[in-house]
Amino acid sequence: MRLLIADKMDTQALEELRILGVEIISRPELTKETLPAALDGIGILVVRSTEVTARAIEAGRQLNLIVRAGAGVNTIDVAAASARGVYVANCPGKNAIAVAELTMGLVVALDRRIVDATTDLRAGKWEKTRYAQAEGLYGLRIGVAGLGAVGREVLNRARGFGLEPHAWSRSLSQNKAQRLDVGFARSLEELASRSHVLTIHLPLDSRTRGIVGRKVLEALPDGAIVVNTARSEVMDYEALEDVIAKKGLRVGLDVFPNEPDRGTGTIEPRIFGRGIVYGTPHIGASTEQAQRAIAMETARIIRAFMTEETVPNV
Ligand code: MLT
Repeated sequence: MRLLIADKMDTQALEELRILGVEIISRPELTKETLPAALDGIGILVVRSTEVTARAIEAGRQLNLIVRAGAGVNTIDVAAASARGVYVANCPGKNAIAVAELTMGLVVALDRRIVDATTDLRAGKWEKTRYAQAEGLYGLRIGVAGLGAVGREVLNRARGFGLEPHAWSRSLSQNKAQRLDVGFARSLEELASRSHVLTIHLPLDSRTRGIVGRKVLEALPDGAIVVNTARSEVMDYEALEDVIAKKGLRVGLDVFPNEPDRGTGTIEPRIFGRGIVYGTPHIGASTEQAQRAIAMETARIIRAFMTEETVPNV
């Protein structure tokens, strides 16, 4: 069985698969465009960021299994894979702590303006008064949109900062919110209206695409902090650009339209000129701990597929 890894990732945990007769081919340079031609004779494909299109699935005549070395499968044409009987598995929850850590990092950095202060210090400017105006986070309300593995890790960390957690998700009921000890919001708009800090942890699917739209963003209190470490497509970034200036929002983004490593283009940095906007290049999952856990889960999935003919996390 030939296994292709089409992204740069921790492969140590996958080495043991060689005992099962798996030939491991590592091609981190592959892109959405070059992947189809590389799939000839490949039985198992492992991807992190590279998009797997219907054309790639069509080209992979021997393909049986695609493993997404991450949580979301939005970068894979799952419908095309199912139509051809190719399993698509993912690694849910394995990078949740890493994403939650980055989320809280962005919240604190925005409140204390750590990036701007560092930029000034690097230029030899000691702007102590300018950066002495943070509100502080203790006692403020944080709205968590999406209560999957990442959202729940964020809740726990937010409590540690003394933030008062509120939440909205498609499956959250009043009873469940009570059990989780979080404020219950009936809609995303209601959540936004009461959040000093709003953080997005929704998966991308047809129901969440664009869900954090103009109405939701305009419902935020003036000066609110907004963080998106989930997927850019769940948020209307054009509306965000307008609302940043109108409401003095402070924004932290780890995800962008046209992320280069998905092979879809180049990012448009205009949003950074709109106000206090901090960003990271989709590194939420990029800690060694998370990538080790992802690689181990990927190996577990492939081992189960090879030895038990079952596929976990499909
Ligand atoms: C995820 O879906 O969990 C992340 O996008 C993974 C990653 O960035 O590698």
